[in-house]
Amino acid sequence: MSDRPVLIAGNWKMNGSLAAADAFAFQLGEHLAKTRAAAELLVCPPATLLQRLGERLRPLKVGLGAQDCHAKPSGAFTGDIAAPMLAELGCRYVIVGHSERRQFHKEDDATVRAKAEAALAAGLTPIVCVGETEAQRESGQAESVVGGQLDGSLPASGTVVVAYEPVWAIGTGKNATQADIAQMHGFLRRKLGAPGAATRLLYGGSVKPSNAAEILATGDVDGVLVGGASLAAEDFWAIAAASPAR
Ligand code: PGA
Repeated sequence: MSDRPVLIAGNWKMNGSLAAADAFAFQLGEHLAKTRAAAELLVCPPATLLQRLGERLRPLKVGLGAQDCHAKPSGAFTGDIAAPMLAELGCRYVIVGHSERRQFHKEDDATVRAKAEAALAAGLTPIVCVGETEAQRESGQAESVVGGQLDGSLPASGTVVVAYEPVWAIGTGKNATQADIAQMHGFLRRKLGAPGAATRLLYGGSVKPSNAAEILATGDVDGVLVGGASLAAEDFWAIAAASPAR
């Protein structure tokens, strides 16, 4: 068994309802009753659905994650949620530094690192997101931007997952080519070096059932972070079923 088991993670973003969470868990459960997943499965719903979806996913052995956390364990931060609160609800992972947080909430690398450290301190595994914009790729800066984000966002130690999500591929239907993914993941794997030998590298950006097998078969890809296609249990399952056995 590899020390980097494939991880199929769903990011529901600001979508979903109690009824949708129940239906998703029911449908996923039907598949899992028939076929064991070859990969580790994880769903990151909005905070309002963590409790309910967590209860439904626990018997299925599907992991629960959150989409963000605050860098402090408690305090006067109206509207924010602390990592220990997520841990208490049964989360095992939390996404930090998603490009939508970096863009719409102006989170910089130092903030993302502080959040990742808070996650680790609470016993959670942070999924640290990095990725370049289309303009940065077109001007030949993809590796320098992504490398800089990695340097600035990763905690000094502790188990993390890294998700490479080119901003231009998120929610656009334009996924990166297999060669682009292989190149960036190879770059990140070399950059992580020996201390990061067990760090899983996920690809994210318009992953869907039709391209999942090719992406998951790409060198240095240890899983995927799936947005839109993770909302439908059938699509999420189809992506999970495309995982190579490790
Ligand atoms: P997408 O989103 O799969 O809808 O492109 C991916 C993500 O933002 O994590």
